[in-house]
Amino acid sequence: MQYEVVLPAAGSGKRMGAGQNKLFLPLLEKPILVHTLEIFEQDNNCTGIWLAVKPEEKAFIEGLLERYSITKVKGLPAGGEERQHSVHSCLKAMKQVEIVLVHDAARPFITEEIIAQLATVAYEKGAAIAGVRAKDTMKKVRGTVIAETVERDNLWSIQTPQAFRFDLLAEAADVAEKVGFLGTDEAMLVERLGHEVHIVESSYENLKMTTQEDLLFGEAILRKRAH
Ligand code: C5P
Repeated sequence: MQYEVVLPAAGSGKRMGAGQNKLFLPLLEKPILVHTLEIFEQDNNCTGIWLAVKPEEKAFIEGLLERYSITKVKGLPAGGEERQHSVHSCLKAMKQVEIVLVHDAARPFITEEIIAQLATVAYEKGAAIAGVRAKDTMKKVRGTVIAETVERDNLWSIQTPQAFRFDLLAEAADVAEKVGFLGTDEAMLVERLGHEVHIVESSYENLKMTTQEDLLFGEAILRKRAH
């Protein structure tokens, strides 16, 4: 199933504490952003990449695209204050496609196999998101006191990619903008419209590079995959 992908890359990465966009940090010598781009560059089902970028970083990113021979980027719209705004600015710049994936540029370990499953389910049902089953015991805490232990069987940690019929996500993003709703992922916007969102079981390796220790885990994953 063919698709175009939106990669929000306009964050500041405060939790990484690197003093620069974390996507430019190297993982085994290549910037995180390039690892992510290469996955979609190499996936034959991917027909276009849209990158939301900070205007002041656009020239640097264009340099990376050239240096690493990334050819599928169709546009680099300016990102917004929140991730949701960055994604929306790509959706507004895109032409109509059947399936759109949204994937954090900070998740460089997604596999073609999971991408293909997501695109297929999105084509069949409208919306599909990647997730993994919660591993830890989950509790709600008020202050420092346990308020409730939540049943784990139905709990999932949600990742990206999140895949949608383009029309559905574009409408959901427009409605969210109109009413000023801010979600923490794209699925929330679609759920608000009353549309079912399906889960596709992903991998614990599909980490988001968020804090310093993630870089260590990330390098270990790359080394394992190189063998
Ligand atoms: O901060 P976090 O890692 O959760 O951000 C997820 C992705 O969204 C990152 O790839 C980041 O660059 C992007 N982002 C963005 N615009 C923002 C905030 C985050 O494109 N305003």
